[in-house]
Amino acid sequence: MSVVLVTGGAGYIGSHTVVVLLEAGFEVVVYDNFSNSHPEALRRVARITGKTVPVVEGDVRDRAALDAAFARYAPDAVIHFAGKKAVGESVAQPLVYYDHNVVGTLRLLEAMQAAGVSRLVFSSSATVYGEPQRLPLTEDHPLSATNPYGRTKLIIEEMLRDCFRADPTWHIAILRYFNPVGAHPSGLIGEDPADIPNNLMPFITQVAVGKLPKLRVFGNDYPTPDGTGVRDYLHVMDLAEGHLAALRWLLEPEAPPQCAAFNLGTGRGVSVLELVHAFEAASGRAVPYEIVARRPGDVAACWADPSKARAELGWTAKRSLTEMCCDAWRWQMQNPEGYRAQVS
Ligand code: WQD
Repeated sequence: MSVVLVTGGAGYIGSHTVVVLLEAGFEVVVYDNFSNSHPEALRRVARITGKTVPVVEGDVRDRAALDAAFARYAPDAVIHFAGKKAVGESVAQPLVYYDHNVVGTLRLLEAMQAAGVSRLVFSSSATVYGEPQRLPLTEDHPLSATNPYGRTKLIIEEMLRDCFRADPTWHIAILRYFNPVGAHPSGLIGEDPADIPNNLMPFITQVAVGKLPKLRVFGNDYPTPDGTGVRDYLHVMDLAEGHLAALRWLLEPEAPPQCAAFNLGTGRGVSVLELVHAFEAASGRAVPYEIVARRPGDVAACWADPSKARAELGWTAKRSLTEMCCDAWRWQMQNPEGYRAQVS
C-alpha cells in the first residue's frame, strides 16, 4: 500500500485529492499548517470516505517538522499543494509569497532528498504561461510570469527541473491547473474563501445565495465572443483525479525517472457571461451583474490543450459545466459560512 504525504491536504484542491486517493486505496498523511484551510475539511473527508487520515500540523518552511514527518510516515511520494495563491495579495506582499511558496518548496525538497523520497507531484498553474501567444496552450508554450504569485510557480518549476538535471533519479510531475471550480457532489467539501472571493465561481455562488449584492464583470471589451474574459474551467473532482493519474504514472515500477509538465484543463474556453448563464440555469437563481473596468493583470483568454495529459497520464476531464455549477451551488447552499460556522 503506497503512502502519500499531501502538503496542504486540508485545502480546497488538497481535500478533494485526498478523497480520491483514499478511495483509490492509497494511505494518505496530511501535512498542513491550517493558515488557509480548516481541520473541519478533514473531518468531512472522513465522513465521505469512512477513513481518518493522520494529520501533521506543520509549516513546509519548518525543516525539522518535515524531517519528523518523513521519519514517522516514510511516504513513497509527495503531493505538494501547500502555498499561497492569491494573485492580488502577491502583488502587495511579494516577499511573503517567496517565503511561503519558494522557500517552503525548497525546504520540502531538501527533506525529501534527505529521506530518500524521489516522487513528487507539484501543484503548478497555467499562470506560468503569462500572456498566451497562441491558444490552446500546449506545455511547450513560452513560460513567463505577470505577477509575483505566478513568478513563484515559475521559479519552483525551474528548481524542479534543476533538481532533475542534477540527479535524474527524481520522478516529478508538474501539474499546470487551469481554473478549478465546483465541489465534491456530497456538498461536504468545497472552496472556502477566507473573505470576499477573488475568483469568479465562489463570487457567483455568494451572489446567488444573497451574501453579496451583485457580480462585477471585469470588462466586456476583450477580443472574445461576448467581450468578457475566457477561461478553461475544470471540475475540482476532475482535477483531483488528475493527481491520482500523475501519482500512478510516477509509481509505475517500470517508469523511467522523469520531470514533466502537464496541462490539467478541459480544452474548452468559457466566458464570464457564459459561466454566469450556465450557473443561473443550473441553480435556478439569478446572478445580477454589472460590467465594470478590466481587472489589471487579467489576460483576455486562456485555455488548455490537454492532449499530453490524456496521452501520457491517461487523464481527461469528464465533468460538464452544468455539473461544475450544480456542485458549486450545493456546497454554497449547504455551507453558507464555509467550514467555520458548522464545525461538527
Ligand atoms: C476568471 C475570470 C476575470 C472575478 C486565477 C489565478 C490562477 C488560479 C485561478 C491559483 C476572469 C473574471 C473574476 C470577478 C470577474 N489561481 N472575474 N469578476 O484570474 O483566471 O486565475 O485564479 O492557482 O493562477 O491567476 O481566475 O476566477 O479570478 O477570474 O469578472 O469578481 O473571471 O476577469 O476573466 P483567473 P478568476
